[in-house]
Amino acid sequence: MTKKIGLGKAHSKIILMGEHSVVYGYPAIALPLKNIEVVCQVTKGSHPLKLDVTDPLAMAIFAALEHLKKQEERLEFHIQSQVPKKRGMGSSAAVAIAAIRGVFDYFEEELSLETLEYLVNQAEMIAHTNPSGLDAKACLSEVAIKFIRNMGFSEVALNLDAHLLIADTGVYGHTSEAVEKVKQLGAQALPLLQQLGDLAEVAEKSISTGQLKELGESMFVAHEVLKRLGVSSSECDHLVSIAKSQGAIGAKMTGGGLGGCIIALVKSQEKADKLSSLLKKEGAVNIWMEKL
Ligand code: MEV
Repeated sequence: MTKKIGLGKAHSKIILMGEHSVVYGYPAIALPLKNIEVVCQVTKGSHPLKLDVTDPLAMAIFAALEHLKKQEERLEFHIQSQVPKKRGMGSSAAVAIAAIRGVFDYFEEELSLETLEYLVNQAEMIAHTNPSGLDAKACLSEVAIKFIRNMGFSEVALNLDAHLLIADTGVYGHTSEAVEKVKQLGAQALPLLQQLGDLAEVAEKSISTGQLKELGESMFVAHEVLKRLGVSSSECDHLVSIAKSQGAIGAKMTGGGLGGCIIALVKSQEKADKLSSLLKKEGAVNIWMEKL
C-alpha cells in the first residue's frame, strides 16, 4: 500500500560550541532551529532513482529505499527548504530527515527514531565522509543538546536572558574539506581540539549557571582556535570582529567552516536588532534570531 503523497518534515540546527573537536570525541553543544524547516513531498514518479553520491537528498532516498527493500520503486521528490545549503545550518541532515520521513510516510511504514537517525547518518556518511553524528542528532532534537560522538547526548536547558544571532556570510561552507584540513594537521591539531573540547565544557557550565559573560568569552576564544585550525574564512572573521566591536557578549563561526555562518550572543532584543542591521551592512546576506 502507498499513499498518494508522502510527507516528511525536519528542522535545522546550529552549533554553539565544539564543531570539529566533536569529530575527535570531544563534547559539542548544538541547538535545534525549529522555525527553519524543510518539507519533502513524495509522489509516484516515472524514473528510477539516479544515484548521485554528492547529493544528500539522493543518498537519503537511496538509504530509505534500500532499508525498505524498495530500490526499484519510481518516486518523485519535491523539497521546500528554508535552510540555506552549505552554511553550517544542517541543511544536508535536515533534507535527509525530511526525505526519509517522506519515503516511509509514502509507503505507510513505521519509522523509529533509531532507524531514522541510522539512515540519516548513512546518507551523511556518503555526503560528508566521516560525520560525527552531531548534525543528525541536533536536527532530530526538540531541545538544545550536549553531544559526544559514540557516547550519546544529554539535554541542555536553555533559560538565558539573551539572544543568539545567526548571520550568513552568503559564502558556501565546505565541511568535508575543512574536516580533512584538520585531519592533515595531525598532532599539531591535538592541543587545539582539546581546547575546543574544554571550551564546550565551560560553555555548558556557563549556560547552566546563567553566566553570559563566560559563555560569550568562550565563544570568542573558540573562534580564535578555529581560526588557528584553518577552518574559518575572511568573511566569518570580519563579521565576528564587527560583532565584537559592537559589544556582542560573544561571537564565533559555526559549523564546518571555510564559509557559512557566524553566531553572536547579545543580551537584549534591541541590541540584537541593532547588531543585525549592522551585520547586514557589513555583508551578511541573511540573519536569524533565536531566544536562548
Ligand atoms: C559540521 O556541522 C560539524 C563538524 O564538526 C563535522 C561533524 O561533526 O561531523 C565540522
